[in-house]
Amino acid sequence: MMSGRVLKAFNEQIKEELESAYLYLSMVSYFHSVGFDGMASWMRVQTEEEVGHAMKLFDFISERGGKVELLPISTERHKRWSSPLEVFQAAYAHEQFITGKINELVKIARDENDNAAEIFLQWFVTEQVEEEANTSRVAQALERIGDSGHGLFMMDQKLGERASASGSAEGE
Ligand SMILES: [Fe+2]
Ligand SMILES: [Fe+2]
Repeated sequence: MMSGRVLKAFNEQIKEELESAYLYLSMVSYFHSVGFDGMASWMRVQTEEEVGHAMKLFDFISERGGKVELLPISTERHKRWSSPLEVFQAAYAHEQFITGKINELVKIARDENDNAAEIFLQWFVTEQVEEEANTSRVAQALERIGDSGHGLFMMDQKLGERASASGSAEGE
C-alpha cells in the first residue's frame, strides 16, 4: 500500500504525462498544418510515449492497491507555434520541467521510505535523460538549419523515420 503522500504525487504525475501527450498532440497538429508531415509523425510517436508513461504510473498505483484519481488536464502551455525550432525548444523546456517533477517524486518516495516506488521511478529517471537528449538534439539541429528550406526539408524527412515504440526496440 502506498502512503497518501506518495499516492497523491503519483496521481499528479499521471496528469503531467497526459498533459505532455496533449501538448505534443497540439504540436502534431501544428506540423501537419504547415506541411511538415515527418515532424508531425515524430511528435505523434512522442505523444504515444507520453500516454505510455501515464499508463505505467496508472498500473503501478493499481498494483499497489491505490485508487487512481484523474485530474483535469490544462492546455496552458499550448501556443500558436510559429516555427519547428520554437516547437522543439518548447518540447525540450517541457521535458526539463518533467525531469524536475520526476526528481520531486523520487524525493517523496525516499522521504516516505517507499522502496518499491523509488525503484519503480528509476526507469523514469533514465527515460528523462533520453527525452531531454532527443528534444535538445533536434532543437540544436534546427537552430543550425535556420531558414534554409532545403535543411528543413531534409530534417522533416529524417524525423519522419522515427518508428513508434510498439513497432521497434526503441522502448517507451
Ligand atoms: Fe513522459
Ligand atoms: Fe522516450
